[in-house]
Amino acid sequence: MTHPDRFLLAGVMGWPVMHSRSPMFHNYWFKQHGLAGTYVPLAIPPERLAGALRGLHPLGFSGCNVTIPHKQETMKIIDHVDDLARAIGAVSCVTVRADGSLSGTNNDCYGFIQSVKAEHPGWRADAGPIVVIGAGGGSRAVCYGLAREGAKEIRLVNRTLRRAQEVAHAFGGPIQALPWETRHDALDGAAMVVNTTSMGMVGQPPLDISLDRLPKNALAADIVYIPLETPFLAAARKRGNRTMNGLGMLLNQGRPAWKAWFGIEPEVTPELRAMVERTI
Ligand code: ATR
Repeated sequence: MTHPDRFLLAGVMGWPVMHSRSPMFHNYWFKQHGLAGTYVPLAIPPERLAGALRGLHPLGFSGCNVTIPHKQETMKIIDHVDDLARAIGAVSCVTVRADGSLSGTNNDCYGFIQSVKAEHPGWRADAGPIVVIGAGGGSRAVCYGLAREGAKEIRLVNRTLRRAQEVAHAFGGPIQALPWETRHDALDGAAMVVNTTSMGMVGQPPLDISLDRLPKNALAADIVYIPLETPFLAAARKRGNRTMNGLGMLLNQGRPAWKAWFGIEPEVTPELRAMVERTI
């Protein structure tokens, strides 16, 4: 699928986008695989999204990732959205097909599950109740992945209960929507807790949660990666819990993108991870 006669092109469309670490690790992969190509940040305001996506094919792009605020809108523009992206309600990756049409999927779910498995070998989704905090796009990808991995009980806590109920209704199965006030007690007996809100991200206040009820052997995960250790993760680590930040999710969601664009599944190596960590 790679073309020795063509300079390979991919990128990430976002607004803003210059903070994105994606060009760094995708360009590492071009180098590592000895391929002539590049991955560029594409600063696309919402009103130009349709034109930009339609421009991928004539410009010779293999595809692109889409990030905030384009993940939902992209679904309406492209020609084909797969069942996974449709279920999650957001597209994270667009591929230009041979006939020039655009197809979209969501790799965030894979990125999250793959990072847990890689960083915590032996992890099982069915080891005990899982508390997920937040009910936005990130949460939907995480909940979908956890449910698909066999989670038996997902306690979904969100500031706006209605949004948690919508996720529970859409995915059904093990997901139980709970009001925001219950977030501290919901940790009782949990095997894992995941923050999918933006709380704790640089410039945002910390996630307001007491970890007193969280069992000491539970895994605490955050999908935030700037900073690498949010106040939530720091508090969990200090009381002895295992932790996982959001960088692994970001790096791993790039692997199926490469598979779709270039037919190669690149590795998330410790060297790659360290290189990106040094910039955060
Ligand atoms: P994303 O697609 O990145 O997940 P989103 O759809 O805007 O972003 O979702 C952000 C999540 O963070 C939501 O769960 C949101 O809660 P609401 O559904 O109540 O808006 C949560 N969130 C944002 N600010 C918050 C705050 N100050 N306290 C608690 N939760 C917050």
